[in-house]
Order: sequence, then structure tokens, then C-alpha cells
Amino acid sequence: MHQGRTTLSKFLIQQLKGSPEQNDLAALLVDIAACIKAISAMTSKGMLGDVLGSLDTTNVQGETQKKLDVLSNVAFINTFSMGGLVAGLASEEVDDPQEIDPRDGSGRFLAIFDPLDGSSNIDVNVSVGSIFSILRAPEGRTPTLDDYLRPGSVQLAAGYAIYGPATMMVITVGKGTHGFTLDREVGNFILTHPHIEIPADTSEFAINASNERFWEPPVQRYVTECKAGKNDVRGRDFNMRWIASMVAEVHRILMRGGVFMYPRDMKDPSKAGRLRLMYEANPMTMVVEQAGGLGSTGRSRILDISPEEIHQRVPVILGSRNEVERIERYHRDYDSGADQRYTSPLFQERSLFAN
Ligand code: AHG
Ligand code: MN
Ligand code: MN
Repeated sequence: MHQGRTTLSKFLIQQLKGSPEQNDLAALLVDIAACIKAISAMTSKGMLGDVLGSLDTTNVQGETQKKLDVLSNVAFINTFSMGGLVAGLASEEVDDPQEIDPRDGSGRFLAIFDPLDGSSNIDVNVSVGSIFSILRAPEGRTPTLDDYLRPGSVQLAAGYAIYGPATMMVITVGKGTHGFTLDREVGNFILTHPHIEIPADTSEFAINASNERFWEPPVQRYVTECKAGKNDVRGRDFNMRWIASMVAEVHRILMRGGVFMYPRDMKDPSKAGRLRLMYEANPMTMVVEQAGGLGSTGRSRILDISPEEIHQRVPVILGSRNEVERIERYHRDYDSGADQRYTSPLFQERSLFAN
């Protein structure tokens, strides 16, 4: 029987029927969709909306905040505070997790989010996004920090919005990864990309090549081989992209395959990587793995990491399965000493990179 267009709400009613927790999770995702519509409306106004430019404030990581970082953060906090479904939240733009006032409901969930990802792109009118991760809140007590610091494998739901030529929302509740496109005139998210599958093989990679001199040997090896093309070990030519919005890179990988890397490097040895585990790596890895891809640090599965801090950074290598497995193998070869080809003094001290 022809069922017509599937809105996000209809889809969630079908995917999440049964327990009260599932019903509440569906309601929460509908709330998040409303927040995403509000952020989409703000970003699309551009220069006409008085939303561009930077503030003179910095976040906990010392990054200058853009106006839209703060506006998007407020939109998410208001959504979760008023919706009655969330007991606590953590955000890239908030130093410590915040409890939601219990008067607003007995929320079952914890929400962790990057309200605006790729915000360096906002002033140049290039795609940005929002990323979210949903965990189970403890029952009958106030959440503590430890309730947030759970491995990504226990996420109940994860997803992102991309504010590009079209606004899309891509989500998973652990039953595949599905994409919805915003019909702006009507204000509904419509299921346009059911059961997204990332091809296992790819000839496209994404990495900030300006950091090349700081990379570890296994990453240098991988990229060198890709660039060497069809007359070298890979036997085919590769293409490269770098948008500087993780959301946009992951979205491209979901649509046509590819591998995205923000690996550990020696630029600032005190940082384990550029991206943040709780609100970038974990939710994006769940979305990618539910679409048949993989997410790794190069040395371990991202979703198996036991977090130590809300704003903790991790190396991220994710996308098409066979490429991620190859890069993991290059790390193993290097760590075991089987790969002797790189002898740069930068990388003589293996223990610098030991996990
Ligand atoms: P955010 O805007 O939330 O701080 O995240 C930006 C991240 C990520 O989206 C992107 O992949 C990376 O930073 C870009 O880093 P470079 O500036 O090194 O290109
Ligand atoms: Mn980000
Ligand atoms: Mn951000």
C-alpha cells in the first residue's frame, strides 16, 4: 500500500514503538528537529540576520566563540530545558554539565551536543552543522559527571543536522542510519535517505594536509600511498576533499563513501587530537557504523573508549570500512616495528603516541 511521504514523526512512531523510554526518545528527537529548524532559519539569513561574526568571549577550550555558536547553544539549551525529557546536558560551549531543573519534568535522557560544528565556515557561507548524542539518565537521582562519561557504544541515539544548500537531519537509534530533508515551505523533515549504506571501498580521503609534517608515520604512509595513485601500491588514483566542517565531511562520506581523518599529531603534543570524543567523535561514529562504516583512533574503536573528561579530544579516522581497517593495520605495523620505512626524528619516540 502506498503510504505517501514519511515525515520524521511518522518514521519515529514506526521505529520507536513499545516501551515508555522509546516513546520518550521519539518525542525528544522531534524536539531536536524543532531546534534544528530554528538554527537552520538563523543560519540561512546570513548577513541579513545579524548572526555572523565573532564575540569577544571564549569557550572552555579557549576558542573564540562565533555569534552563531552561542545562539545555537541557547537554542539547544532552551529545547532541552523546556521539553521535560532531559535530566542534564553537556555542550561544547558550556564548561561543565548542567542539570535541568527538575520542575521541568523527570527527564530520562542526557543530551550532549556540538551546537554549531564547523563554525569557522559560517562567515564564508560554507556548510555548517549541529551534532548530538543521547544517553540514558540515571533513574531517581540527579545525574553526576560519571553518568555522562560512558563509552559511545551505550548511546541511545545520535545524529547531526547539516545546514547546506538543503537542511538535512541524519539520525540513528541503533536501527540503521536515516536521512531527512527539510521541506522549508511546509516545515517538515521528510525521509529522503532511508537505510544509508557507506560503500566499503573508496577512492576519496579528507584530511587537513597542512598538518602533514606533524602526522605519525602510519598516517603519512597512508596519504603518501593515496597520492601516489595508480602506478603505486594502491593501483588507483585518489581524490581529496577538506571542508573544515566535520558534519559536511561525514555527510559526503555517507552519501558516496570516503575516509575522514583528524589523526593524532605532534602539533601540540598535549592534545590527543583535534576533535572532541563526547559530542563529535562518538555521535558521528555511531551514525557511520550504523551505515556500515567504521570509526577508529587508528589504535582502538572509538565507541569502546571510556571517557575521562567531557571535553576530551581523540584522534578520529572514520568512513569506508576497508580504508579504516587499512589505516588501523598501518598503525599496528608501525607500533610493532614491522614498518621501518619512516625514520623521521619526530617519530622516533614511539611512547609519545602510545594509547
Ligand atoms: P567546531 O567548529 O565545533 O569547533 O569544530 C570544528 C572542527 C571540525 O568540524 C573540523 O573537522 C575541524 O574542526 C576543522 O579543523 P581545521 O581548522 O584544522 O581545518
Ligand atoms: Mn565541532
Ligand atoms: Mn562547535
